[in-house]
Amino acid sequence: MIDASDFPDLERPRRNRKSAVIRNLCRETDLSADRLIYPLFLHEDSQDEPLDSLPGQFRFCVKGLVSEIQKAKSEGIGAFVLFPKIPDEQKNSTGDEAFNPDGLIPRAIQAIKAEVPDAVVITDVALDPYSSDGHDGILSPDGRILNDETIDVLTQQALCQAEAGADIIAPSDMMDGRVGAIRSVLDANGFEEVSILSYTAKYASAYYGPFRGALDSQPRSGDKKTYQMDPANAREALREVDLDENEGADMLMVKPAGPYLDIIKRVREATTLPVAAYQVSGEYLMIKAASQSGWLDEKKVALESLVGIRRAGADMILTYYARDAARWLSEG
Ligand code: PBG
Repeated sequence: MIDASDFPDLERPRRNRKSAVIRNLCRETDLSADRLIYPLFLHEDSQDEPLDSLPGQFRFCVKGLVSEIQKAKSEGIGAFVLFPKIPDEQKNSTGDEAFNPDGLIPRAIQAIKAEVPDAVVITDVALDPYSSDGHDGILSPDGRILNDETIDVLTQQALCQAEAGADIIAPSDMMDGRVGAIRSVLDANGFEEVSILSYTAKYASAYYGPFRGALDSQPRSGDKKTYQMDPANAREALREVDLDENEGADMLMVKPAGPYLDIIKRVREATTLPVAAYQVSGEYLMIKAASQSGWLDEKKVALESLVGIRRAGADMILTYYARDAARWLSEG
């Protein structure tokens, strides 16, 4: 007979930490390159241009983009999301360049598919890079973002991307009803196999600042608070989850990631769909700036930030650290 008094009363959780082998056996969360998605900026120029506002990142020309994807593929990154910087003269108030079949994004997709056919190409659906107003939707003269008019353009944008060969369409605009509308248009045109990764809970965040600098896509007036979510809200994210699921999204995203780990966890618990999280430009930049000043160990902090996002419940992470992380993880 075992007597409870035979057991020592001190709990010793440190036993499970006593060697690297045991720690590895007990580890609850894995981080690997195949969970990462690499966001890439591109432009019309013929040269790659380093981004001052996002050290370590570039605006690539189409040729440079393909070679960056080849390098990242060889390091274990399989999926890429593309963001175009559009010259001012191609922008207008309805963002028509977004569905130009000869535009930068369709040409880039075709170049990637020709050279690296198994790279998974994800495209952003929203008007901000193409809009002379710098908004994700169409701005009315009285300063409102017109939901249903915008959806007409977004569905054309999504179809144009699918026709060029995109594997996954990622609407980041936060208009109501866009996932269902895009799904219908894709299906009606024979693109049943093209997936939708919805920016389900996308917050009106100041952490997007460096990204908007990279694309010159700052709103020219007002802000994005009538379509992106209030950072104070969590229940509302679950409402967006229900809508996106019902409208046919294949994967759901939370954005930003680090300051919204509770949202990632709640979305994870509310859905059976895969959950993505976007470690956005400002999150990357904070780690970068602190480590360039010698204040933080970049490798350790970046990997810790990514494992934290995984632990909260993200299956996949969009991160500007994708290539570095793949390399660091392979170094052990
Ligand atoms: C545009 C879009 C934004 C980001 C991704 N898609 C910016 C915004 O909504 O203003 C931000 C990504 C980042 O900061 O890294 N719809």
